[in-house]
Formats: sequence, C-alpha cells, structure tokens
Amino acid sequence: MKAGKRIGILTSGGDCAGLNAVIRAVVHRATGYGWQVLGIKEGTQGLLQRPVQYQTLDLGSVDGHMMRQGGTILGTTNRGDPFAYPMPDGTLKDRSDEIIGGYRELGLDALIGIGGDGSFAILHKLAQKGGFPMVGVPKTIDNDLGKTEVSVGYDTAVAVAVEALDRLQPTAASHHRVMVLEVMGRDAGHIALAAGIAGGADVILIPEIPYSIESIATKIKDVRDSGRNFALVVVSEAVKTLEGTGVKKILQGGEKRYGGIGDYIGEKIADATGAETRVTVLGHVQRGSMPSPRDRLIASAFGVHAVDLIAEGKFNRMVAWSNRSVIDVPITEAIEHYSCVELDGALVKTARGLNISFGD
Ligand code: F6P
Repeated sequence: MKAGKRIGILTSGGDCAGLNAVIRAVVHRATGYGWQVLGIKEGTQGLLQRPVQYQTLDLGSVDGHMMRQGGTILGTTNRGDPFAYPMPDGTLKDRSDEIIGGYRELGLDALIGIGGDGSFAILHKLAQKGGFPMVGVPKTIDNDLGKTEVSVGYDTAVAVAVEALDRLQPTAASHHRVMVLEVMGRDAGHIALAAGIAGGADVILIPEIPYSIESIATKIKDVRDSGRNFALVVVSEAVKTLEGTGVKKILQGGEKRYGGIGDYIGEKIADATGAETRVTVLGHVQRGSMPSPRDRLIASAFGVHAVDLIAEGKFNRMVAWSNRSVIDVPITEAIEHYSCVELDGALVKTARGLNISFGD
C-alpha cells in the first residue's frame, strides 16, 4: 500500500438511509491509511462542473451526528447519463470525457461509487474508458442489486413500511376497513414482502406473483368469516393492472415513475367485497428516515471494506453481504444480475405459512 493516496467518493442514484454512514466509514478507514478523501458533489454531476464540485472530508467533517443522518451530505442525482446527456436544446451529448477530465483534475488515485445497478453501469463504463480504479458500494431501498444479500437503505425502508402498517392497523380496526398500503421497490417486491410479513398484512401483492381480484376477495371474506372486520393489504409499486400494464406517473421532463397501483387495487377490492377501503401511498418517506441500526452496521462494514479493496489494489469490484460476511464480487456481475423475489425463497414460504395471500 502506497501512503498518501487521494480517493474520491460519490453517491449516485436515488438517496436512501445509510449513505452518510458509508461516507463516514470510508473517511475513517482512509484516514487510518493516511489517505485524503474528496467527496464529489451530486454524483457524477460534480465532475462535470468547472471548477469540479467537491469537498474535502476529514474526521472532523464526518463525526458527530452523521451516522444518524438520512440522505447524503454529498447530494446525488438519478438523472443525466453522461454518455447520453440531455442538453438544453433537447439533444443528447456524450459528456463522458468531461467527467473523466474532472476526475483527473482532482488528482484521484481511485473512486468509490455508492450506487445501484444503473449508477454502477455508468460508473463502470466511465472507469473503463478513463482507465481509473473504481470500487462500488451497493445501496438501494429496493434491494434488487445482484450478488449481495442486502444493500444499504433496504432495512430502513422496510422499517418505515412496517411502522406504517402498525399505524394503519388500529384505524383499520376502528373503522372496519380494508387498508391498502402502496410501497416502493421498483421491479422487485422485496420491501412489500418483508414489510407485509413483519407488519401483519393479510394480502401482499408483488410484481413477481400474478394475482386475481377474486383470490384477494376470497381472502378478505375468509378474514371476515374468522370474526375480524378489517384487513391490511400491501401492494408493491410495480404490480400490474389486470390488463397487464404497470401504473406510472409522468413527471416534469417526461420522466416516468411507478405510482398509483394502490388506488387501482383499492378500487377493485371495494367493488369486489363491498368493504370500505382506503389507500396510503408511502412514497419517499421510505427513503428519508434516520438509518436503522442494521443499515448503519452494513454501511460501516461496506465502507471499511471498500477502502481495504483499494489498499489491496482490487478494482472493478462491488462490496457485498454474503452469509454473515462482507465479501467483494466483480461489479459487472452485480450489474448484470437483477435480484427479484425468489418464489421458492424463505420469505415467500414464510408468508404462505402464515396464511398471507399473494392473491394467486
Ligand atoms: O430506486 C429507488 C426508488 O425509490 C424506487 O423504489 C422508486 O421507484 C424510485 O426510486 C423513485 O424515484 P424518484 O426519486 O426519482 O421519484
């Protein structure tokens, strides 16, 4: 290990709880090696700006409350692929050389990118083109990155969703209602599945398992027949309508995001069962919380391991959680392997064992 390295760190993609805990761990470990850490602002956007936007990170800047803080002190973005960057005149421009130039201006020896599959695909491509060493730390509330059992942010998002169910249960019982909770997760149902089990849901709908309204209605009838007059339903945002389409909102600039399937399912349940139904869309609340203890632990372990990889000269790797250990895997494998809910996995079996319906 060469002393006096200078490493860069950036957060990229949607934020989540635990990002600051990763940054803190990286700064601690790198300082231990006698290295300097530069925090790049707003993901790769900071490397596009001139002067390059960054801040020097030392122990003084990451101690105190940072471990507890949601979001990312560096800022992030989930827009603007530098290889096809949207320009004000509506055209797309390859600005990757500018980003590589920004990296060089900072005189970095390596880059740690904290991101999900989309960010890693871009960062890996940049690192290959620019010939610079890079290591990835997985984060996403969706927990859909391949090759790691868990990503930073997922545990907190599940905790927020469970808390929502804890709060919906008494009001559902008081009003004899069916409460539908729509949660995030992109194309994977991990948040819905875990939160549904831990939050005592009667029905969990995930994109991996096709459902029918009849089956959901039968479950709600069974609940009523058992003497209970309310029910909790968790719906993952990417669940499709009966016609097979995903429900999305069109945002400014024409971008699309999942949102609205909860209302659709709520209406169908009301029609099929006559039950008074209310829908809650949890949204970005799942991302903005104070990180859970488990997310702080995972983030810390990942941050330390990422710096150790640089010390060992191991690049193009992503740190990962596997079988109670922190390991590292080729980042390309993590990008290529999208991790959906496994239909024969422990949690699906658990839910079925608890008589939770998937609407199938
Ligand atoms: O990938 C994280 C995530 O929160 C998804 O669960 C969700 O579909 C999406 O990001 C929302 O993106 P945005 O923050 O751009 O609305």
